[in-house]
Amino acid sequence: MAKTRTTFVCQSCGAVSPRWQGRCDACGAWNSLVEEGAASGIGAAVARKARKGRLFALEGLASTGQEPPRTAVGIMELDRVTGGGFVPGSVLLLGGEPGIGKSTLLIQACAKLALSGSRVAYISGEEAVAQVRLRAERLGLAQAPVELAAATSVEDIVATLDDGEPFSLVIIDSIQTMWTDSVEAAPGTVSQVRGAAQSLIRFAKTSGACVILVGHVTKDGQIAGPRVVEHMVDAVISFEGDAGHQFRILRALKNRFGPTDEIGVFEMTGRGLAEVSNPSAFFLSGRDTSAPGAAVFAGMEGTRPLLVEFQALVAPTSLGMPRRAVVGWDSNRLSMILAVLEAHAGVRLGGHDVYLNVAGGLKINEPAADLAAAAALVSSLTGATLPAQTVYFGEIGLSGAVRPVTHAAARLKEAAKLGFTGAVAPADTPQPGVLTPVAHIGAMVAEIAASGAAQ
Ligand code: TYD
Ligand code: MG
Repeated sequence: MAKTRTTFVCQSCGAVSPRWQGRCDACGAWNSLVEEGAASGIGAAVARKARKGRLFALEGLASTGQEPPRTAVGIMELDRVTGGGFVPGSVLLLGGEPGIGKSTLLIQACAKLALSGSRVAYISGEEAVAQVRLRAERLGLAQAPVELAAATSVEDIVATLDDGEPFSLVIIDSIQTMWTDSVEAAPGTVSQVRGAAQSLIRFAKTSGACVILVGHVTKDGQIAGPRVVEHMVDAVISFEGDAGHQFRILRALKNRFGPTDEIGVFEMTGRGLAEVSNPSAFFLSGRDTSAPGAAVFAGMEGTRPLLVEFQALVAPTSLGMPRRAVVGWDSNRLSMILAVLEAHAGVRLGGHDVYLNVAGGLKINEPAADLAAAAALVSSLTGATLPAQTVYFGEIGLSGAVRPVTHAAARLKEAAKLGFTGAVAPADTPQPGVLTPVAHIGAMVAEIAASGAAQ
């Protein structure tokens, strides 16, 4: 009989070590190693005669020259992120913090597909069938012909689903609750998550169903089981949101069959997730246009323009070290803008606390937001209210020069659509008209200061 070998697997990064250690050598996590039995099915050497395969020439393959076939769900915000719908035979990982709304989104997607005639299964390892049904009822989807099951054994699930008639979509909620006989480790451990994912991926490829694996990810990367699955699946989509806000953002982090820079915006309501098809209007709602310190940034999320408000508060400090706090933007970027304003535009902020906030709880990481942030800061410092119907975009260089950014036309079009009549933008923007071109940050600061004196 073969000797059972035990190994120690880091639950944070999946690294395998022959002995227990307090700290993982690979990722540096403390106390993350868990004893796991060696895989008897996956890792075990099985004496098997090698079969000769066949090689294909790339250029000779029959090609339709078309996109892969897709199953569009009919939820626009979801279809946009997947690249137009689910690809048959592909596996998607939907990651997100517990309670963010993953199950809600997927049961809604299932119901929509099932009502349009596709065969759909929702396998829950967390909730009983009655609970899933109750949730669907609350969402007004009780009539959808979705096939439900509560199961955690991958072998049982695959056997159940393999009944001769193919599925379009199979949801596995969640991968952390699944376990496979071929791995001797407790459910939820890295080895089990990986083994279960492997079996389900094989099922997707052979049956042609699109399989969605739900993965819980916590903020600090603990219980990082899904991370080890990321490279095995065709697409990784994350569902993000802010605890204090109702909106949720769906974002593709990896996608073999579509773009990775698209976002889908949803709002969590009493009756499930509602699509936000006009996010700019959503994020600008409740704007106070009469107070200084607010500038509207015409941003881009993927190929989609998005207007958000930057709010700044600049106040004299009573501290030796003035405070710099930023929410929704990069704090290094803020320090850089403050330094450039001081060095090249004569704006002294050394004696002031500076707070910057992106309204609505959105996180912006485009350098194009520099100009909007600078405008909001100068507006708050000088007390000059910025024109309410003007948007700002442009990257600020260390010399104070305002540099052009991509997608200027799309940004201006979105602004015009929402009733904005002016735009402060880089001088080289190839779109005249409503523009107030700025070549250097000093010019914008002077203009805001002058308008403040006139107000
Ligand atoms: P859920 O989909 O269970 O999250 P996850 O699967 O990511 O863990 O969502 C749970 C949260 O969503 C819960 O806090 C309640 C809220 N919710 C609503 O606000 N409205 C609804 O209609 C539903 C079903 C849930
Ligand atoms: Mg859930």
